[in-house]
Amino acid sequence: MAEFSKGLAGIVAGQTSVAIIDEEGGGLQYRGYPLNQLTEKATFEDVAYLLLHGELPNAAELKAYRASLKAKRDLPSALKEALERIPASAHPMDVMRTGCSMLGCLEPEGADRDQGAIADRLVGCFGSMILYWHHVAVGGTKADVTVDSEDTLAGHFLHLLHGEAPLDEHRKALDISFILYAEHEFNASTFTARTITSTLSDFYSAVTGAIGALRGPLHGGANEAAMALIERFGTADEAEKGILESLKKKDKIMGFGHRVYKVRDPRSDIIKVWAEKLASGSDEGKRQFEVAERIEQVMRREKDLFPNLDFYSAIVYNRCGIPTPLFTPLFVMSRVTGWAAHIMEQRADNRIIRPTSEYAGPAVRDVPALDQR
Ligand code: ACO
Repeated sequence: MAEFSKGLAGIVAGQTSVAIIDEEGGGLQYRGYPLNQLTEKATFEDVAYLLLHGELPNAAELKAYRASLKAKRDLPSALKEALERIPASAHPMDVMRTGCSMLGCLEPEGADRDQGAIADRLVGCFGSMILYWHHVAVGGTKADVTVDSEDTLAGHFLHLLHGEAPLDEHRKALDISFILYAEHEFNASTFTARTITSTLSDFYSAVTGAIGALRGPLHGGANEAAMALIERFGTADEAEKGILESLKKKDKIMGFGHRVYKVRDPRSDIIKVWAEKLASGSDEGKRQFEVAERIEQVMRREKDLFPNLDFYSAIVYNRCGIPTPLFTPLFVMSRVTGWAAHIMEQRADNRIIRPTSEYAGPAVRDVPALDQR
């Protein structure tokens, strides 16, 4: 019998050519390109195209891809009506899950919609979806989700959220975070998408399931939890005291640790630079960054643990004026590119994903009659 591994740790559950996590060698690579080079020389739309098509776009292809995503930002009126009915108290990740599922009813995968078109549609409209609901829930207004002329997804999101063109450095920081979040091989949500795909289910079901997996605080939900943690402390000294107390109680500190990385999360180093840059512009930001750095020091000293991508992303998003409950939906807007690439890859060489279990229940026994139980 095969060996049992709790949480599938260390199990090679499939092959992929989308990304590799190579902690010793070139770090994280998307289709062979090192992530640090992508954040320096590419935009999120380049990366989305790379993940979905296998190669980086040339200038003309990038221009056409941006235009095609832009044309997919509007939402069908039935989806808007459904979003208007979701209570303001709902978690935005529940809104994403419901919105994705509803779109699958209105624009189902079929003869006239191929998987590439659905992937582009979801990349193009997820930002509109969450912000349409957000504006209804928070201000009672039905936002025109096509209102601005921003070319990039990051710019469109910030413009639609704040009602004005974003600062260049905010647009750039969000774009970098989208690149970093786009893909990470067989993480929990991607594996969920591949498992659903492996049953020959439809594209929307795979993405809806992946959103459900991402929602949890051990996965994508950690960026929201990290912000709540940073905001708990007024000073770095308070943070040190609070973290030591939490560790004594064996609490998990959100935004730290990783299943695959053992020494450092290379994505964290990149986003930390942007967190510091944006935080330096205000006293509130400087305080947040000092608190975060002290938490990082304490975690390294006490537990030999390092921040993952979610930790400093929280400060970047907060400094861009993004409400904390919208942090994980931002992860969805980016990671949908990775999910889509994996769905296509799974379909191209499919075998149903069906592992076995190690039985830990009672030994075989007879069913007693009702009056003897
Ligand atoms: N805080 C405190 N202790 C931790 C943390 C943490 N964040 N992460 C790991 N540990 C400890 C565990 O308590 C455990 O200690 P023990 O051996 O004394 O019991 C040891 O390190 C191993 O941790 P596991 O939870 O077994 O590691 P696993 O690989 O199963 O989990 C995970 C990885 C889920 C990321 C974990 O580190 C964690 O819960 N981190 C906090 C949540 C988080 O930040 N998630 C985001 C992941 S990255 C992303 O989605 C972009």
